[in-house]
Amino acid sequence: MEEREIYKGLAGVPVDYTAVSKVDPESNSLLYRGYPVQDLAATKSVEEVAWLLWYGELPTPEQLDGLVETERSARALAPNVRRAIDDLPMTSHPMDVVRTAVSVIGANDPDAEDNDPEQNLRKAKHLFAQIPAIVAYDQRRRHGLPLIEPRDDLDYPQNFLYMTFGEEANPEVVDAFRVSMVLYAEHSFNASTFTARVIASTLSDLHSSVVGAIGALKGPLHGGANEAVMETFGQIGTPDKVEEWLDDALARKAKIMGFGHRVYKNGDSRVPTMRAAMERMLDHYDRPDLLEMYERMEKAMGEQKNIKPNLDYPAGPTYHVMGFDTETFTPIFVAARVTGWTAHIMEQLASNALIRPLSVYNGIERRAVPE
Ligand code: CMC
Repeated sequence: MEEREIYKGLAGVPVDYTAVSKVDPESNSLLYRGYPVQDLAATKSVEEVAWLLWYGELPTPEQLDGLVETERSARALAPNVRRAIDDLPMTSHPMDVVRTAVSVIGANDPDAEDNDPEQNLRKAKHLFAQIPAIVAYDQRRRHGLPLIEPRDDLDYPQNFLYMTFGEEANPEVVDAFRVSMVLYAEHSFNASTFTARVIASTLSDLHSSVVGAIGALKGPLHGGANEAVMETFGQIGTPDKVEEWLDDALARKAKIMGFGHRVYKNGDSRVPTMRAAMERMLDHYDRPDLLEMYERMEKAMGEQKNIKPNLDYPAGPTYHVMGFDTETFTPIFVAARVTGWTAHIMEQLASNALIRPLSVYNGIERRAVPE
């Protein structure tokens, strides 16, 4: 076999520059375009952060008004997107539904193949407005409930919750949801963003890149972990069973969902902000049992493996108490991350090089085809 060093999982390999965000495991920080994510999450709206990721600067009041108007006017789903969702079986995973619906939105776009930056910004804003409507409608149809039309007097997180639950959410709930959307919006060259950039690098179209990214995000080692956290809590049942469950799971060498990270080894920089939002929600919905389970698992994982939670760990219980179905958690992540993905797609196209790595062959050496 050829002797060459390989970088399994591309671990530790920088593959390009990016100005969208900086993950610094040494200082345990995450910057979006230079701004600490926890500071953005403290005061900025989902719309402001979307603009920041796409354009590199926070919007002026006029720019923000323009984006808000664009987003509010683009929320309603086209009839064939609704039909495509309706035609899918209830057994299909909500990530498959959002992936399919984004594909239909791409096929509907007469300028889908046009990679001009202005066209791609337009498509990014359209997806930003549409994905909450897809996610909300899919959860409702699974409960036999009708679609709720968007309300243009509500901001992005208010309207997302309204379209899902059919009533205006409590301001505390809206704020915790906003925080989660800001924290989930961007995270440099994670697996789904890299997938989006690989597809963009072939000069394919923006919707195809986003569809591929959704496929990558679905896996439990990436975005699917937020659902898996609640599945784990469901298996454990009550807080007093945490340690016994964990001993058994670790003895089976199982990966504990919501813990560990490829880049952060001393804790995910987003967790303290999300944990505070989760605590507000567990208090609001009076679920001290979930907080106890959360803390016991975190403590036991620290003691046994010295592995810390990632963002998906506090996000899972937060979405659960808000009333989202467990399988809807990763589609919510799609709604948030589409801004980061599309910022990266545009950055990739602005100085493109086809992403095409090498492999080291370790199969059967050359041989003759039998006659
Ligand atoms: N549970 C138990 N052991 C773990 C975990 C975990 N969650 N994470 C890492 N380890 C152990 C792993 O078994 C290995 O031990 P050993 O050296 O004895 O074999 C060691 O830690 C290194 O793990 P690794 O899998 O080589 O590390 P990685 O950098 O390839 O994996 C990861 C990162 C996120 C895939 C992994 O931590 C994991 O599978 N976590 C659970 C899934 C999860 O929560 N994913 C969300 C990631 S962050 C948010 C997002 O992107 O969506």
